[in-house]
Amino acid sequence: METYTAKQLWEWALALPEQLAAEPSGRNVPSTSSPLPRRNLVCGMGGSGVSAQFLAARGPFIPWRWATTPDWLGAADSLTALSYSGETFETLAVTRKALASGVRVSGVTTGGELGRLLDERAAGRLELPVGMPPRAAFGYLLGAALRLGGRLIGEPLWDPVEVTRRLGELRDDLVRDDFTSLRPLAASLAGRRLVVYGTCPLSAAAALRWKQQLNENAKLHCWNGALPEMSHNEIEAADPGKPPRRVVLTLADEPPPLDEIIGDHEVGLAFSAPPGEPLTRTLYLVLLGDLLSLLIAAERGVDPGSIPRIAAFKQTGWARRAYAQGED
Ligand code: F6R
Repeated sequence: METYTAKQLWEWALALPEQLAAEPSGRNVPSTSSPLPRRNLVCGMGGSGVSAQFLAARGPFIPWRWATTPDWLGAADSLTALSYSGETFETLAVTRKALASGVRVSGVTTGGELGRLLDERAAGRLELPVGMPPRAAFGYLLGAALRLGGRLIGEPLWDPVEVTRRLGELRDDLVRDDFTSLRPLAASLAGRRLVVYGTCPLSAAAALRWKQQLNENAKLHCWNGALPEMSHNEIEAADPGKPPRRVVLTLADEPPPLDEIIGDHEVGLAFSAPPGEPLTRTLYLVLLGDLLSLLIAAERGVDPGSIPRIAAFKQTGWARRAYAQGED
């Protein structure tokens, strides 16, 4: 099992603007073709799969986190497979079925079995740099997925130059400030259970990223959800003895009135990004969550660079059998 140092994870987290800006090299990458696909499925798990949520918030894409394909998937549709390692059995199973059904398949990966499958069928793929844990390559992966997605639907999903320029400025402000706004927060959240909500599809994608990074880097219990949906169910389930901290990520300039929504027996925190273009604001929230997860890992004395349970799960008989057979 590969492990990485906390210093490496910090460097990769702070390089989010540069990762997004990097132009990936590709093989057999599709140019926009007509007719456009009927539906666009985007599959992937964990740190790779979160980018599917961003695509779905930006355009006509359906995120998919299962090992089976939807019944409706057919030759008129597209599949974009996202896997840093190219070895994730759920992603491989979906890709194999899609290829067998004549679906227009492309992918984003460093290689692995997914790269081999795509090359074998001359299916398009964008390449990621090797040598990182998947979650630390988020910027590379999302940048490539947005570029590929734009080609599939025949119109750009973002403006890479403007988004990465502004995100770089926001990142530099955080560094100059030595993360002083985040440090006390990390100390206060370190022993808590958290629920992170987004208030729109884009901030909900950022909330999923927070959950993943808090789980994997900080080894912290954290769930993600959506507001206003939570105010139709979850607020009834509050446990006054041990309430989770509710963190709301919003792209609105005015944060929602959390004390009105969750009551005063729970603690709610709201984060919004400086005004600007929505994707840039969302990525700023992602950056905050990534840095916070590393600060909390330090507070808790846990190693953000190793994820032994995930590595062990991938070695289980079930995972390996399903991987080998592309099972349902
Ligand atoms: C590990 C990580 C995981 C992986 C997931 C899928 O750093 O973030 O959540 O992303 O296990 O693996 P890949 O990304 O290789 O398909």
